[in-house]
Amino acid sequence: MPRIPVLTIDGPSGSGKGTISRAVAERLGWHYLDSGALYRAVGLAAAWEGLDLSDADAVAQCAARTEIRFETAGAGEPHVIVNGKDATRQLRTETAGAAASAIAAHPPVRAALVALQHGFRKAPGLVADGRDMGTVIFPDAPYKVFLTASAAERAKRRYKQLKEKGVSVNLDGLLHEIAARDERDAGRAVAPLKPADDAVIVDSTGTPITEVVEHVLAVVPEKYRLPRQA
Ligand code: DC
Repeated sequence: MPRIPVLTIDGPSGSGKGTISRAVAERLGWHYLDSGALYRAVGLAAAWEGLDLSDADAVAQCAARTEIRFETAGAGEPHVIVNGKDATRQLRTETAGAAASAIAAHPPVRAALVALQHGFRKAPGLVADGRDMGTVIFPDAPYKVFLTASAAERAKRRYKQLKEKGVSVNLDGLLHEIAARDERDAGRAVAPLKPADDAVIVDSTGTPITEVVEHVLAVVPEKYRLPRQA
């Protein structure tokens, strides 16, 4: 029996992965996995429990008992419910991102999230967004993209997003944080951020989102694409 198709979209933070992956999933009519939200949720749950984020085993146990649900209510970003609480807004903060990056470096934490991620592979297909989707979680995925953009562009996008949300931030500070996070994600021993050998590299620097979506969709055979709505 043919396996359920998966399109993996990996890349650094701020490469536009979330927006692009959701748009691509919608155009294909496929499910969507935001694996970063899982790491953010575990970081948050561990912080709620007052755990030491450097304690790999304690955080892995926390990951195993944390209940994470995605709820889609109409259009827009799905809500993320962590242990019964709507944590959508809190999960998008820089603090949650930093906690996620710290706990994501622990092999037992990553291991605790593998089965949960595999569970998202359901018919008719899955768009999996993350750092190690094409290398570790779905190495057999037939379609793989590595989405990137310059650090300066990613910092600018994040700055704009945060300003729109009314969060006051400093562009230089953001650039610094993004570079530090990239280095930690790419330099860690387990599942480092790197393109799969068979991934198509898409650089979104200076390219409008609608065009990037088309570049990513081009990786998937025409037969899977839903007809465009006028
Ligand atoms: O994509 P994001 O910014 O929501 O991810 C938050 C952090 O989680 C990021 O710094 C690295 C980590 N992460 C990971 O290690 N593996 C994934 N598949 C997704 C995210």
